[in-house]
Formats: sequence, structure tokens, C-alpha cells
Amino acid sequence: MIIIKVKDYSELSRKAASLVAEELAKKPDLALCLPTGATPLGMYEQLTDKNLDFSKATMFLLDEYAGLGVDDEESFACYMCLNFLDLVNFRKENVFMFNGKAADLDKECEDYEKKIEEKKIDLAILGIGKNGHVGFNEPGSSFSSQTRVVSLSEQTRESNAKYFEKGEVPSKALTVGLKTIMGAKKIILLASGAEKAEVIKQLVEGEISYQLPASVINTHKDAVLVVDRAASKLLK
Ligand code: GLP
Repeated sequence: MIIIKVKDYSELSRKAASLVAEELAKKPDLALCLPTGATPLGMYEQLTDKNLDFSKATMFLLDEYAGLGVDDEESFACYMCLNFLDLVNFRKENVFMFNGKAADLDKECEDYEKKIEEKKIDLAILGIGKNGHVGFNEPGSSFSSQTRVVSLSEQTRESNAKYFEKGEVPSKALTVGLKTIMGAKKIILLASGAEKAEVIKQLVEGEISYQLPASVINTHKDAVLVVDRAASKLLK
């Protein structure tokens, strides 16, 4: 994994956006897998400002809460529309997001996995949870996992409670699996802030283990970690 250390959050956002822009310039029909969370917000802002042409590109949302749909403001689909999709020019038919309200969530995940297999992800952008999760692949997730319904850990539900008015975070979610993520041609993992320093140390210096789902990315042949000073402060 190549590590790119930057000064702070705004530099991280600019770097991430310029890496995406580079890939899009090489391949206008780029298939992206994109995350939510606080970390990529600056990148989305930068990407929007760059006025890039996404008309031939495809995007897959990385994960979603079970029970939430695009009309729910806490949903990741809603986040993605507000912060990115409504501001750039993806074609509707090239945007794939989970329907967390589907009657059969397992089927929803199976269909999603099939769509990804068909299109093939060129570039997956990821954040990282404090417990090492990527997407909603929580500790204990198999490296051979595909897109599926998962139970959220207490730590993740606590971390994300700030986004829910009544603090009631769903207990289940839908996520692109680790094997599916590893199938992407290129992976860019973003980490910012001191609260990520411990997990970044484990990711870079620790063992590859199911207990740290993100650690599998160390085995990818084209993976880049963009990390700011605060998140990399514990690295040797
Ligand atoms: C969430 C998402 C992840 C995200 C992570 C970190 O729960 N499912 O995709 O990367 O937590 O979020 P943040 O960037 O806000 O720290």
C-alpha cells in the first residue's frame, strides 16, 4: 500500500479529488464505489468544484442502513444526493444505491453484487471506522465476503448516533463486501484526524486479520492510503 501523507484535512480532500480526477481523465467511463461519512465530504466538495464530466461514469454507493431509503435524511443515499450526485452529471441509469427498504434485503444485496460483477469497479474510495471497518464490514468480517446484510457493532452504532435525531441507529445495514471491494482495480483509503491515529497505526504496522477488516487492503496490488498528520501521528 502506498502511503501519501498530507498536512491536514483540506490537503487530504484536494489530494483525494485530484486522484479521482486523474483516473476519470484516463477512463471517462470509470466505475466508482463511493463512501459516506465525514471524511470524504471535502473530497466531494472539491470534485464538484472541478466541474468534471461524470456523464459516462458509474457509481455504486458503498453501504446503507437497513430500513432507510433515499427519502430518509439519515440514509447514505440521501447524503450522497445532497453532497455529490445532485451537483454533478452522472446519468441516473449509472447510479446504484441500495434500497434499504426493500422487502427482501438479501435479494437486494445479491442483485447489487451482480450489478458490480457486470460493471466491475475501477476505483473504490473508502473511509475507515475507528474499529477498522470499511463500508459496514465490521470486525470479524470474512475477507471472502460479498455484498450482504450485516449487524452493526455497538461501537459503530454509538459513533453514528450523532447523525440520528433520536439517537436510534438501525441495528442492521447493507454493505459491499470485502472481497467485492478487493475486486476494484484501485483502492484509495482516506483517514483524517487524531481519532483515527490508533486504527491507522494498526492498519499500517499491525497484522492482517479479520479483527481489522481494513487490513486486507494491504494485500491489494494498487492501494493508496491518504492520511493527514493527525491520523498518522502514531506511525513509526
Ligand atoms: C461509517 C461508514 C463508513 C465510513 C466510516 C467512517 O459508519 N459506514 O463507510 O468510512 O463510518 O466515517 P467517518 O468518515 O465519519 O469517520
